[in-house]
Amino acid sequence: MITLPITVFPGTADLLQRTATGWQILLLPATGMLLVLVLATLAPPLRGAEPPDFTSVKAREGMVVSVSPEASDVGRKVLQRGGNAVDAAVATALALAVTYPGAGNIGGGGFMLVWPGEGKPPVCVDYRETAPTAATAEMFAMDRAPYSHRAVGVPGTLRGLALAHQRWGKRPWNELVMPAVTLAEDGFAIDRALAEDLNDIAAKPTTSAEFRRMFAPPDGAAWQAGERLAQPELARTLRLIAQGGADTFYLGPIAQAITTEMHAGAGLITAADLAGYKARFREPIHGTYRGFDIFGPPPPSSGGTCVVEMLNILENFDLRGEGRYAPLTIHRLIEAMRRTYCDRARYLGDPDFVEIPPQLTTKEYARQLAASIDQSHATPSTALAPEISVSSEGESTTHFSVVDAGRMAVANTYTLQENFGARIVVRGAGFLLNNEMTDFNARPGVTDRRGAIGTPANTIAPGKRMLSSQSPTIVARDGKLQLVTGSPGGRTIPNTVLCVLVNTLDFDMPVDEAVAAPRLHHAWWPDRVTMELAAEPEFAPLVQRLKSLGHDMVPKPREQGDAHTIRVRGDSLEGVADVRQTLGKAAGY
Ligand code: DON
Repeated sequence: MITLPITVFPGTADLLQRTATGWQILLLPATGMLLVLVLATLAPPLRGAEPPDFTSVKAREGMVVSVSPEASDVGRKVLQRGGNAVDAAVATALALAVTYPGAGNIGGGGFMLVWPGEGKPPVCVDYRETAPTAATAEMFAMDRAPYSHRAVGVPGTLRGLALAHQRWGKRPWNELVMPAVTLAEDGFAIDRALAEDLNDIAAKPTTSAEFRRMFAPPDGAAWQAGERLAQPELARTLRLIAQGGADTFYLGPIAQAITTEMHAGAGLITAADLAGYKARFREPIHGTYRGFDIFGPPPPSSGGTCVVEMLNILENFDLRGEGRYAPLTIHRLIEAMRRTYCDRARYLGDPDFVEIPPQLTTKEYARQLAASIDQSHATPSTALAPEISVSSEGESTTHFSVVDAGRMAVANTYTLQENFGARIVVRGAGFLLNNEMTDFNARPGVTDRRGAIGTPANTIAPGKRMLSSQSPTIVARDGKLQLVTGSPGGRTIPNTVLCVLVNTLDFDMPVDEAVAAPRLHHAWWPDRVTMELAAEPEFAPLVQRLKSLGHDMVPKPREQGDAHTIRVRGDSLEGVADVRQTLGKAAGY
């Protein structure tokens, strides 16, 4: 039996112990009473039958932490052969497109944050998808159609990886693509999570016939963990990309396959849309927090802005003095989230199309927001943005972190939007297309209490990038790399990153504990707090107190993102694969 690292932190990490089979936990509630909690069986592991030995790893030279053991190994080998963090990131991303098809991709997009090394400014590679030229603001007003060809944004992944490689890569492109070709050609043993996903999605009526054909189980019945998945058509596509680079995808035979697929399914992407797609270098959002420098992606991701705005608000309070799971700490976290997510809805979108107020990430603005927090009552979400009329009326992304021997680092988050995206495979080319168009505000003017946003900043327009929550994040101090993190989880992502940062920077938790500690989420609307493990009896007093302050507390399982993280401590690297949803691997050397 595997014990998932389930930990509960009242304010000190001193009592946490990792045992041979998992975690033994530690509790020092605000009352001062000591509780020891062994949470060995709350959540069964999704992968494998043996205790994982590679989810928390120390190394000196280099490290890759991703959701897929095969992909982490590919990245680590690139580092061992003299590649740098960007080389390893490119190879890992392409390997994930084979071994983690729910989110690893060449048909989607994302954000890569590069820390080039001491003394060099970090850079964000924005390879977010764009709306096709024929897209219109109202196209999803009646029907969101998430599994249709119309939901597909112009993919950005290969332009993004190629742009990063062109600027920083040391190893030849071909060498970085070939491990993915081999994985697709030879196949790999699928784990239980992927077997379940493939069986599940094949059974849905909205799934395309080509998806069913490509991911058909070997005996025609159902996938079992351990069976091998080979993807010969994807292998051919990747081989073309190895030889011809990203242009093959945007201008060559793969572009042709995509436009044929679009034509067959009444999709909007044209040859001109593909040819015109550009990945962009952008200056990251930079904030400071208690002496640390925080870097995250700028719009069109909301991630960096949200994380820095929330940290700036929290810097006005002594979280450490209260304790990590003290009611006042959680109250302040919730109120920082509420205010920041309201600003996200109000202001954020593609900066090429909307003007984003620069004050969002300033300390002065955060002071005003902090001062607006009532320390003994929840602020109703309705009170925050009276100008937005609010009427009363889904997964998959993956993040990986890389650090190399020269202490260059990459935080990369990319996605197909939902698990397996639009579930449309490009016929003959063997890869999945995203449904990222559903990240735009579907119904202009309609913001509701369930969390639909209808504000103008993120309505659809031709060529526009849809607002993202992806938050690949890098922390430095005195110019030295400290932490690389990020997560999947849609709108929960900035809050997941916030929890990891607060755990690390305020509470000095070791990185495995910082990643394992229960997380919470509030997104302005819906006006409720979801909190991992809030249903556990140990949290009852906390939950009770928060309810008395006016918060709607909703417990949820431990599933708020897999934050694959690397901490740099002196000369050593500590990598943690977050095993909330899948096992993952920290591969170091
Ligand atoms: O870019 C975004 O914010 C979303 N498309 C991410 C979707 C996601 O994280 C889904 N799941 N884990």
